[in-house]
Amino acid sequence: MKNKLPDGPKGSWLPTIQLIRNPRAAMESWVKRYGDPFLLNALNGPVVVTGREDLIRSIHGQDPGIYLPFATKTLVPMLGSGSLLVMEGDLHKRERKLMMPMFHGDRMKAYGVAMQQVALQQFERHASQNKTIATLELMTDISLEIIVRTIFGGDDRQQALALMKASRDIVKKSSPLLFFSIKTHVSLWGLSPWDRFIAARARLFDLLDSIIESRQDSSTPGDDILSMLCTAKYEDGQLATREHIREELLTFLFAGHETSALSMTWAVYHLHRNRNVLEKLKSELAGIHDDSTSALAAAPFLKASVQETLRVHPIVTETLRKLKTPMQLGDWTIPAGVAVAPATVLAHYNPATYPDPETFRPERFMERSYSPFEYMPYGGGHRRCIGAAFASFEMAIVLGTLLKRYDIELVDAAPVVPKRRSVTIGPSTNVPIRVLGSS
Ligand code: HEM
Repeated sequence: MKNKLPDGPKGSWLPTIQLIRNPRAAMESWVKRYGDPFLLNALNGPVVVTGREDLIRSIHGQDPGIYLPFATKTLVPMLGSGSLLVMEGDLHKRERKLMMPMFHGDRMKAYGVAMQQVALQQFERHASQNKTIATLELMTDISLEIIVRTIFGGDDRQQALALMKASRDIVKKSSPLLFFSIKTHVSLWGLSPWDRFIAARARLFDLLDSIIESRQDSSTPGDDILSMLCTAKYEDGQLATREHIREELLTFLFAGHETSALSMTWAVYHLHRNRNVLEKLKSELAGIHDDSTSALAAAPFLKASVQETLRVHPIVTETLRKLKTPMQLGDWTIPAGVAVAPATVLAHYNPATYPDPETFRPERFMERSYSPFEYMPYGGGHRRCIGAAFASFEMAIVLGTLLKRYDIELVDAAPVVPKRRSVTIGPSTNVPIRVLGSS
């Protein structure tokens, strides 16, 4: 039994910068040098990182009561204390209970048609304006409009456009360092990254406040997520306050559009770099004779292609939990105050689980199933992404709808590599494509 913490890279700034720049390369090099698990003294606190299935199982199998969310010092000033991402304990449990129905089961079917319409309209708009379409721009417009339409409902086009603009802006102003160190939350006459973030947030909050106010006053609530948030009651019969709803909406807009856009862009890239895979997918899609979203969502090779995309490119490379009480992790006793982190990107590239892990091969998801400790693009345990079903459904509908109708090719043959954006990792280019034809 080892009681001290595992070994790891020395210092704080350099490893944090290495992790921000290229998380997979940094973590793989630390595993090689120090073993798995290793200790990372990140700027926002010490973290024991692992990609081992047995240890990830142990982390997700603990009583959630021993954990606190990580980096609330930086996240609370950014998202507010009413965001699901930063809530802890019973409050977090109660909030998830309120929200789960909004993202599950039959709700998906109701969102499917809107997702399909948005995908087609945005694709046609981009194709009519440009010979070369920037996939990332296209997918950002699609995922933003989808999240705005499903959250806010209604047909107010002006309002939707204003929300899309403000949401795009806040993601753009989210410099990665703001998430990693509270020391970067400083004002410099309106010129610092923090000032720019706060200004973008104020613009979005103004907009959200006026929409929430009119929705709360409305006598005929719709079946969109905002209407549900305004009317849903906690177990004690209480309604959520306006400030609280505003912070949850910010979280959904923040967590729910860039992630999907990046994943769908990666999918287009990999599918068109791998002719055989694309042909298999196209032939599956050709066999779907109606436009039914449930048929697309059930198509096995399409589903496997989405899964493989999220394996090769987890948008969040590690998830973190801070310990309230000491925890036994394999041979190590991790003290309170230290965080533990399942490293998704290490688990997803483990050659023992995924033979030839560098190869994009959706078939692997049809040949066997993977445990939630081997495959975890949406994190795991009590904080697993609440939008996971929504996002996987969205990816299948958007990709299936577009690839069934359009033949496209990549404009640029050069490889695209992962690049840090904010807390997320995305493609290093916009993945330009050309339309070859439609069917
Ligand atoms: C491909 C798309 C997406 C990916 C890859 C993704 C990934 C993740 C990950 C890794 C986490 C952290 C889980 C953990 O700590 O174990 C998370 C949390 C979360 N995600 Fe997603 N997400 C996606 C889409 C969405 C969507 C569409 C929404 C909402 C509409 C959303 C809302 C959230 C929220 C609210 C949390 C916090 C959950 C909690 O702390 O209880 N995500 N997501």
